[in-house]
Amino acid sequence: MKTTSLGKAVRRSNDLSVAGSASVTLVAARPHLLRSKALIRILFVCLGNICRSPITEGVFNALVQEKGLKGQFHCDSAGTGAYHIGCLPDSRMRAVAKRHGLALIHRARQLQQSDFQDFDYILAMDEANYRHIARQCFQQTGSIISENKLFLYRQFDPQRGESQNVPDPYYEDDDAFEEVYQIAYRCAGGFMEFLKERHF
Ligand code: 4NP
Repeated sequence: MKTTSLGKAVRRSNDLSVAGSASVTLVAARPHLLRSKALIRILFVCLGNICRSPITEGVFNALVQEKGLKGQFHCDSAGTGAYHIGCLPDSRMRAVAKRHGLALIHRARQLQQSDFQDFDYILAMDEANYRHIARQCFQQTGSIISENKLFLYRQFDPQRGESQNVPDPYYEDDDAFEEVYQIAYRCAGGFMEFLKERHF
């Protein structure tokens, strides 16, 4: 079992025993099995699902389209919190997206139990969300989420420096929203490279 600063509820790819129970084989622990034409299902998760996760979803979808890979991906986003269920993305986030040629039409929803089965990759926008996702998975499914499924999205930012997090812009000024877009853009490229290695 892996013990990290993010808590204990994430299973290492080669750790097939869970708290003394019978061994479990993880498909995601064997990257060669991932090389198929199957749809790759990706969920972006932040707190409110109105700022960071909708823009990262939108930017990644645009990259998929640009690369002619549309049929190979299914992307969605969700929030760990319930505050904005049903809402469009924050108007400041939509304004930045529009300046960059993207229309954000996602309606906020909360992370739910079925997401842990329905998605191959869950990308957390920050460490608090990462811990929340891992804890929710364990509480709702009884399984420890694999570190081949749950990632901090910022790890794919080639310019991330010390930070592991996509900063929350909600209580910040307009510049913070542009900064989130720039991070989303860089992470999308890095994540696509990671997926190419694994799947194509
Ligand atoms: P997000 O930003 O997690 O990037 O969607 C936030 C949106 C709303 C709140 C906090 C962060 N809120 O406290 O309502």
